Amino acid sequence: MTKKTLLSGVKPTGRLHLGNYFGAMKQFVDLQNSGTYESYVFLANYHALNSMQEKEAMEKSSFDLICAYLAIGLNPKKTVLFKQSAFPELAELSWIFSSQTTMPYLMRAHAFKDAEAKSKEISVGTFTYPLLMAADILMYNADVVPVGKDQKQHVEMAREIGQKFNRTYNVSIFKEPQELIVEEVETVPGIDGQKMSKSYNNVIPLFGTDEEISKAVMSIVTDSKSPADPKNPEEVVIYQIYKLVATQEEKEQMRSFLEKGGMGYGDAKKELLRKVLEYFKPMREKYEYFQKHPKKVEAILVKGAKQARKKVEPMMKEVRKAAGL
Ligand code: ADP
Ligand code: TRP
Repeated sequence: MTKKTLLSGVKPTGRLHLGNYFGAMKQFVDLQNSGTYESYVFLANYHALNSMQEKEAMEKSSFDLICAYLAIGLNPKKTVLFKQSAFPELAELSWIFSSQTTMPYLMRAHAFKDAEAKSKEISVGTFTYPLLMAADILMYNADVVPVGKDQKQHVEMAREIGQKFNRTYNVSIFKEPQELIVEEVETVPGIDGQKMSKSYNNVIPLFGTDEEISKAVMSIVTDSKSPADPKNPEEVVIYQIYKLVATQEEKEQMRSFLEKGGMGYGDAKKELLRKVLEYFKPMREKYEYFQKHPKKVEAILVKGAKQARKKVEPMMKEVRKAAGL
């Protein structure tokens, strides 16, 4: 039986945080290890260009992200790892889609609307972001796309864009990709209680130093309840993050301490810090290893691109043929 294809990517636009890990990246590893999929995971550096136009920063965060992929457990023997920019064909496919997509359609994209609401000067690349993302997803004819909730609309758009191409040229080249979102980690809260995001400066970094992680955990927002007051764990940000790193038993214990009263926020933070450091220790060690072995990392990407090319070339042949190019 042929395996279903899984594809996802993350932009190398800054340091990774617990939201990226639990919201998206951990799923790549779990799904890879399920053995159910043929997995493709890439570094979305073309997409990153919209917000990062400094050569050194782009190079460094790209390298860091690949190290992170390897550190969290993506295994190049099981997952094809590559850089988006290994395939300029994506720009070609995106262009082909652009001629079938209307401006009002793209104006409905949340990312565009957000940028507009903030009265930002919007680049054409930000506007056409969903087209490039559709090209990513459809190029490899992905069946499932594990992402965080904020990316749901982009996957829906990819589905519609692919179907429109099929209808326009009366072909059935593109499948209908499905987003895969893990409900309980839909949105990981940041240290201020809003969605954890590098844009809000409220993150717990995945590969920070002990001090950085400790500083972030210790500054998580709390209300003014005293240790003795009963608390609703669902409203306690510390607990919302703790849930992700603790064992079932530990979770139940903190839950009941909070509910009954008797646990102060200071102690809860210390316990959270202990678990965060414990949970990520092996990953942080692997990350340091790859940081010191850039040649190994480069070789993995070269091999990944070679494997991914086997998908890209036949797909582009079919697309060009369908469009009469
Ligand atoms: P950021 O918001 O920090 O800029 P990105 O937009 O680069 O993060 O997101 C990369 C991936 O991580 C996406 O799939 C996104 O949905 C997921 N993600 C980011 N932040 C969170 C969060 N707080 N909770 C759940 N998933 C998240
Ligand atoms: N837009 C995604 C993000 O901001 C990154 C991304 C680019 C992606 N292309 C993709 C994710 C294709 C899944 C599939 O996180």
